[in-house]
Amino acid sequence: MLKSPFFPEVAVLLGDPRLADHSKREGTFHDEDLATRDSMKAAFASLQGYGFRYLDDHAMMLDALRRDPPQFVVNFCDTGFANDPYRELNLPAYLEMLDVPYSGAPPAAMVLAWDKAVVRAVAAQLGIAVPAEVYIRPGDEIAALPPDRYPAFVKPACADGSVGITVDAIVHDQAAAHARIQQLRAELPGRAILVQEFLPGAEFGVGIIGNPGRQMTVLPPLEVDYDNLDPALPRLLGFESKALPDSPYWTDVKFREARLDTGDRSAIEAAAVTLFERIGLRDYGRFDFRTGADGVIKLMEVNPNPAWSNDGKLAFMAGFASIEYRDMLRMILEAAQVRAASERGLATG
Ligand SMILES: Nc1ncnc2c1ncn2[C@@H]1O[C@H](COP(=O)(O)OP(=O)(O)OP(=O)(O)O)[C@@H](O)[C@H]1O
Ligand SMILES: [Mg+2]
Repeated sequence: MLKSPFFPEVAVLLGDPRLADHSKREGTFHDEDLATRDSMKAAFASLQGYGFRYLDDHAMMLDALRRDPPQFVVNFCDTGFANDPYRELNLPAYLEMLDVPYSGAPPAAMVLAWDKAVVRAVAAQLGIAVPAEVYIRPGDEIAALPPDRYPAFVKPACADGSVGITVDAIVHDQAAAHARIQQLRAELPGRAILVQEFLPGAEFGVGIIGNPGRQMTVLPPLEVDYDNLDPALPRLLGFESKALPDSPYWTDVKFREARLDTGDRSAIEAAAVTLFERIGLRDYGRFDFRTGADGVIKLMEVNPNPAWSNDGKLAFMAGFASIEYRDMLRMILEAAQVRAASERGLATG
């Protein structure tokens, strides 16, 4: 724990509940989203030595930051500026122009990680296992896949929060793949689409807090627990699991500490650490993997701005290491402040 913070006055940037948000049910914030904010604020308030203010009114945010630049920003705005995921990187870019130090990934890492096909290519080049994939550009004709490539998983190349991922993502033949691609094109015009190898096995998350060359904590990996889900339902963490409280995916899918043999655990942890550095994440991040029909655990995606909420995967992983939510937030804040202080010549290490 830091004896005294480098930057005690902290502004926390959040998504704007006044505006539409397409990653949420009915495209808007709900009580459960606001409740996680209250828990986060209470946890921050319990940290000694800091003062926190919260900025979530995006109409005022840029002016407020410019007029009264905070000593330090925690960038928990995972919706993107104006709740537009394509403008998630604009806030860190703006903070850099204002020369305000902030927590979390720089714009370049956000750009790379936003495109799952780019992440896959980088990972493959680093020798990390990835699913087979066909990349379909907007407007491209959809070529037939060989029949042995089904079932397949159809998802947008660029999205998070499972936007565009529902039970319909799993397709068993060319006709279903075609229909799903048409649906996605109607819902998310202009976005490229991935038709991936379907990974039917165990699903894992790896969380990291810290930075390469400094203190870096790899939290105990998480496994998605589908045991209580109706066996008739396909196993996936789609939009239903993240935004629809009435869905069995919300109520019956749980997270538990991963049951992995030492070799597999070290392989996904090493993959996460390598990607953290290569994609250029900072301070914290989360990496999602799933096991293929061939038994190989493959990378699904890299999250440079993962959910910070007390019910998110990162908080569960911290819990497996007996790290309380407030201490997880403190670790993120300290990792970010030590890095930023050192970049500014205020601290070594
Ligand atoms: N190729 C695949 N095979 C099987 N399941 C998959 C595949 N790709 C994604 N999934 C399922 O869909 C879920 C969401 O996929 P992914 O992590 O790529 O999307 P996301 O929208 O970025 O999600 P997040 O909320 O984690 O940011 C995964 O957790 C997994 O359950
Ligand atoms: Mg994911």
